[in-house]
Amino acid sequence: MNINDFAGKTVFVSGGSSGINLGIAKGFAAAGANVAIVSRSPERVAGAVAELRAIAAPGARIEGYNADVRDAEAIAAVLAQAHAALGDIDVLVSGAAGNFVAPALGMSAKGFRTVIDIDLNGTFHVLRAAYEFLRKPGASVINISASQAFTPTKYQAHVCAAKAGVDMLTRVLALEWGAAGVRVNSIVPGPIGDTEGIRRLAPTPEAKANMASIVPLQRMGTTAEIADMAMFLSSPHAQYVTGGVIPVDGGISLIGGRDLSAGLAN
Ligand code: NAP
Ligand code: COA
Repeated sequence: MNINDFAGKTVFVSGGSSGINLGIAKGFAAAGANVAIVSRSPERVAGAVAELRAIAAPGARIEGYNADVRDAEAIAAVLAQAHAALGDIDVLVSGAAGNFVAPALGMSAKGFRTVIDIDLNGTFHVLRAAYEFLRKPGASVINISASQAFTPTKYQAHVCAAKAGVDMLTRVLALEWGAAGVRVNSIVPGPIGDTEGIRRLAPTPEAKANMASIVPLQRMGTTAEIADMAMFLSSPHAQYVTGGVIPVDGGISLIGGRDLSAGLAN
């Protein structure tokens, strides 16, 4: 099996209805996998399911579900439904997240808690509920992190704290689940063009150009480049890789905090 052959495998993606996570779902669907996605908006899920069915390999099944990752019981119910429909989960991607640009003093307790609840607690809910449905041995679990996890970044107190927690969950669960043959890794995307995340962090053409210019490779990445890493990590070529926090970021994690002040206006 190469990294482009997932025929007969089952992939579950939280937050899979748009952006980077939809790109990951597309990569696996085109490579033959059965794919289930979940997010809050019924319209967004329906649109993504249609996009996925249009590019899926012949025979691949695509299912969409609605739930909020902050609701542990709702997420557990969706995972049980996806398991009943598509069987044991070979690849689990936790990518649902929220972000806005604000100084800590401009965040209410609810504003801070909202991002912690979606990114960190939501990831715990998804992984905790999915464990019983993972293929054992063999499953690949991938958390979608961000460079804010290790680069202190102004106006991102909530995301920095949440994603640092996500990466620590990756490491702890790699330890706890390794003996069952379940690998757990984080992918750390750099700035990925044409995504909601970048629309929030760099809302003007000038801010986008500035962000691209500080990336050592001098450009933003693509969702397909993140999908490639997710497929590599889930392929036979990465069977000894677990507990990794792996940048796919054009080198931006090598430099210091970005200036996100352009996003404050939004
Ligand atoms: P996006 O398109 O807004 O994707 C977020 C997804 O999560 C959407 O499908 C959204 O759908 C879902 N979601 C949000 N809150 C949810 C909740 N409470 N419960 C269930 N689903 C929820 O954003 P993106 O920019 O592609 O980011 C995707 C991931 O990559 C995130 O983990 C982000 O932190 C990470 N990342 C992005 C970048 C970047 O450059 N964009 C860089 C580094 C890391 P609904 O609204 O329908 O729920
Ligand atoms: N500055 C300060 N606080 C903000 C804010 C901003 N720009 N945007 C939202 N908040 C606060 C709200 O004011 C609210 O707190 P309050 O009631 O005490 O005022 C709190 O965050 C929750 O906002 P709400 O809109 O009720 O939350 P939600 O659960 O409907 O949505 C968000 C969650 C805010 C993260 C929303 O932006 C979202 O759904 N994002 C998903 C898409 C996304 O962020 N994609 C990029 C991923 S990297």
